[in-house]
Amino acid sequence: MIIVLDFGGQYNQLIARRVRENYVYCEVHPYTISIDKIKQLSPEGIIFTGGPNSVYDEQAALYSKEIFELGIPILGICYGSQLIAHLLGGTVSSAPTSEYGRTEVSVNNSSALFNDISPVTVCWMSHTDYIEQVPEDFIITAKTSVCPVAAMENAEKNIYAVQFHPEVMHTVQGMTMLENFINNICNCVPNWTMDTFVASTINSIRDKVGAGKVLCALSGGVDSSVAAVLLSKAIGKQLTCVFVDHGLLRKNEGDEVEAVFGKEGPYDLNFIRVDASQQFYEKLTGVTDPEQKRKIIGEEFIRIFEKEAKKIGSVDYLVQGTIYPDVIESGLGKAAVIKSHHNVGGLPDCVDFKEIIEPLRLLFKDEVRRAGLELGIPDYLVFRQPFPGPGLGIRIIGEVTAEKVKIVQDADWIYREEIKNANLDREISQYFAALSNMRSVGVMGDERTYDYAVVLRAVTTSDFMTAESAELPWELLHKVTTRIVNEVKGVNRVLYDCTGKPPGTIELE
Ligand code: XMP
Repeated sequence: MIIVLDFGGQYNQLIARRVRENYVYCEVHPYTISIDKIKQLSPEGIIFTGGPNSVYDEQAALYSKEIFELGIPILGICYGSQLIAHLLGGTVSSAPTSEYGRTEVSVNNSSALFNDISPVTVCWMSHTDYIEQVPEDFIITAKTSVCPVAAMENAEKNIYAVQFHPEVMHTVQGMTMLENFINNICNCVPNWTMDTFVASTINSIRDKVGAGKVLCALSGGVDSSVAAVLLSKAIGKQLTCVFVDHGLLRKNEGDEVEAVFGKEGPYDLNFIRVDASQQFYEKLTGVTDPEQKRKIIGEEFIRIFEKEAKKIGSVDYLVQGTIYPDVIESGLGKAAVIKSHHNVGGLPDCVDFKEIIEPLRLLFKDEVRRAGLELGIPDYLVFRQPFPGPGLGIRIIGEVTAEKVKIVQDADWIYREEIKNANLDREISQYFAALSNMRSVGVMGDERTYDYAVVLRAVTTSDFMTAESAELPWELLHKVTTRIVNEVKGVNRVLYDCTGKPPGTIELE
C-alpha cells in the first residue's frame, strides 16, 4: 500500500487513482495523520500532494520531521516537494513570475525516478514558490529554463521531490515516473486487481457476518446494486434487500430493478419491493420549497425502511453502498451546504444495527463499475448514470404531483432513448429531462395550448463538483423536442439548459 498525504491540492484523488492504476492499493489521508497511525498502516511508500499554502504558513510549522526517519520512501509533489525542502533545511522562495502549464523539463536519467524518461520531457507546472536551495545531502535531478530545482532527491534515504505534477495527463511521462516510484523505489507488488478484491471481500464478509441477518437498502443505482450482489454472493439468503419505490423513479425503473433483483432475476436473494408512491405524493402535497421537499423525501424513506426492518426482525447488520469519494475526509476546510443530499446509501443508523457494512468504501466509482462487471451485473445497470435519492422530486420545480411525475417520466424516456440512439450515452456524464414550473402559450392543430415547458439537461464532468453543459447536436435536440411535444400530453415547449456548474447545479433543485 501507498498512502497519499493530502495537503489540500486539487489532484489528491487523482494521485490515488494513478497508484491504483498501477495495481497497488492506495489510501488518501489528511496531512494531520499521526506518525503512530502511519506506522500502524505500514505503507510501502508515502506521497505528499500539492496544496494552496506556502511552506511559511502555519500548516508546515505544524508538520513533524519525524516522518523522514521512518525509512519509508517519500515522494513530494509541488507544495509537497517544497515542504520536504523547507523541513530538511533547504530554501523555498517566491519567484517573480509563476510557472503554469506545459513546461519542458530537463531530467537526469541516472535518478531512479527518471528511469526510461526522455532527457527533455514535457511536464505540467503550477507554482509560484520554488526551491531555491536544496537541503544538505540532496541533489538536483531536474530543472526548467526558469526553475532551478524541478526535482531533487536523497536517494540514500529514498526521499524524492518533484515541482511538477506527474499525476496529470499533461505530464507526458508522468505515469512512468509514478511507476518508477511505486515499483522500483517502494518495491510494491502490483496485486490490487478487481477479482482478488471481490474474492477477498466475499471472504471477509462471511467471517464478519457468521450466521447473522443483513439488510440492504437497494436503490437500483450502481453502488447499492454492486454492494447487494457482493453480499448475496457472500451470505446468500441471510441478506434481505429492501427497495423502496417512492413514485419518483424514472419510467419503468421499479420494474427494471425488480427484474434483476426480484424472484425472476438471476440472483437468489430476499427482495422486498415497497410501493410507497401514494404516501410520498401525499406528504409532498402543497410543498414547493426544494430543501423542504428533499427533507420530506429523505425522512419518509427512512420511516418506511425502518418499518420494513422491524417486520424482518433481529437484523444485525446494515449494508451501505458508500464509496471511496464519500469516505475521504481531507480535514481541510468545510464546504457550505448547497443541497442536503439524501440517498439510500446515506441512511443514518436509525434502526438498531450491530454494525454497518460498507464493502465498497475502498473503491472509486469506476472501480465499483469494474467490480460490478466482475460480479456479472448487467452492463445497463453497471453503467447507469447517477440518479439522486430524492429522484424526480427534485427534477420537478415546485409542487410534485402524480400528473407532473408522469410528464417528466415520459419526456425523460424519450430523451434517454434518443441519446442512446445517437450513441452519446457513454459520452455524457449525466442527462435527464426536468419539468419547469412554467406554463406558456402555444398552438397545436390550430388550437391554443397553455402547457408546461420541459427542460433538457446534459452535462459533462469528471467529478460532478463542477460541470459543463454538453454541446448536443442540433438535429438530436430537434428530434427530441418534436417527439416530446408530440408524444407527451401536457407539454408544448422544450428548453435546453446551457448553464454550467457553477453557477448552476446539475439537478434543478
Ligand atoms: P448537484 O445538483 O448538486 O448534483 O450539482 C451533483 C450530483 O449529485 C447528484 N445528487 C444527488 N445524489 N442524493 C444523491 O444520491 C441527492 O440528494 C442528490 N442531489 C444531487 C446529482 O444527480 C449529480 O449527479
